[in-house]
Amino acid sequence: KRDFKIAPSILSADFARLGEEVDAVLKAGADFVHFDVMDNHYVPNLTFGPMVCKALRNYGITAPIDVHLMVDPVDDLVKTFADAGATYISFHPDASRHADRTVKLIRDLGCKPGVVLNPAVTLESVKHLLDQVDMLLLMSVNPGFGGQKFIPYTLDKLKEARARLDDAGLEARLEVDGGVSTANIADVARAGADTFVAGSAIFGAQNYESVIKQMRDTLAQ
Ligand code: DX5
Ligand code: ZN
Repeated sequence: KRDFKIAPSILSADFARLGEEVDAVLKAGADFVHFDVMDNHYVPNLTFGPMVCKALRNYGITAPIDVHLMVDPVDDLVKTFADAGATYISFHPDASRHADRTVKLIRDLGCKPGVVLNPAVTLESVKHLLDQVDMLLLMSVNPGFGGQKFIPYTLDKLKEARARLDDAGLEARLEVDGGVSTANIADVARAGADTFVAGSAIFGAQNYESVIKQMRDTLAQ
């Protein structure tokens, strides 16, 4: 059985009470804080920057913060997020002129590097990076918004990614992001994911504990 991690995306949290919300989902059993950074350039939406990550650390959040950079350019923000307490820093290679250099930069700054593939981007494009990253993040929606529908064809890419990582004996986490819920988490796990981002499915739920428990029970089957 893989070491499953649940990573609520704070994009769907109540930003007016962000510290309390993050505290609540972690107390409810979540593992990572999925931190969606959008710059209204790489994606058509604008969220929050490194100062909010720092604010969560100052508030007392000690869990891993899984920063998902939907920004272009990437490198300058890698430095500020490393200083702001990020744990994982994942970026879209198509948003960086020099993806290999960006992966090395993230690791040199003491964070865990990840690369993110949009639904239509092939695994082939990152084959030279898979042995350098701590996380491969596969988007199952087109980035920019929470609450979108899971794109079914991404399951095929997920199966291929699981095979590539296993065949190469690589330890990188395989994270799926977008439209994940209690209804499809079993299929996503069966296809090979070990880390599950969920925004609207968790923050839209009445009770964080019960929805996270339902996800874990489903994964344990
Ligand atoms: C979308 C973000 C996702 C999103 C997931 O661009 O990267 O992390 O917040 O939200 P749900 O789970 O509601 O699809
Ligand atoms: Zn994300």
